[in-house]
Amino acid sequence: MPDLLVVPGSLREASSSRAAARTLARRLEGRAACTIADVGRLPHYNADVTDDPNVARFIEQVGAADGILFVTPEYNYSIPGVLKNAIDWASRPAYASVFKDKPCFVVSVSGGALGGVRAQAHLKYILNGMLARVFPAKEVVVPQANAKVADGMLNDEDTLAFAEAEIRPFLDSLG
Ligand SMILES: Cc1cc2nc3c(=O)[nH]c(=O)nc-3n(C[C@H](O)[C@H](O)[C@H](O)COP(=O)(O)O)c2cc1C
Repeated sequence: MPDLLVVPGSLREASSSRAAARTLARRLEGRAACTIADVGRLPHYNADVTDDPNVARFIEQVGAADGILFVTPEYNYSIPGVLKNAIDWASRPAYASVFKDKPCFVVSVSGGALGGVRAQAHLKYILNGMLARVFPAKEVVVPQANAKVADGMLNDEDTLAFAEAEIRPFLDSLG
């Protein structure tokens, strides 16, 4: 069973992307061993900081995972700063970081009608720049996501079934 690191891009308790990440991890039980990363523990990126244990843990988690499942909201047409900050920490040395050749799958959410598709495109662009391997699949987006959360879980069965169908070949590709 592949080890999957699930990386939500929001910190708030009632976050729809955290709910989507939690729900997808639950649905993938038995097909992947999921760990949910906590990017909120990371300090702001600063190359002078070389001994932060949370940074070390995040880089270790990315390095050890067979694949990464990002679940990102859209902030101002892009990904949230907290997610970019986490990615930046794990992106060094350039072109030879733990992201090099790392299989990645991107899900986006938003409160609006487009499901964070612009953030999704930005995240894939960023991942390509780090030589990560973005899995080619139909785009999984969750529009109007806040209305689809109850008790900390995403409850839109159609979207979840579609997401699962797209993520399954990704998991199979991880061997
Ligand atoms: C700073 C900020 C910027 C946002 N910008 C966008 C945006 O560009 N496009 C969009 O569809 N939603 C935007 N939203 C709405 C978010 O999609 C919505 O708040 C979503 O619920 C955030 O994800 P979360 O529920 O995981 O926290 C923005 C929200 C915030 C707080």
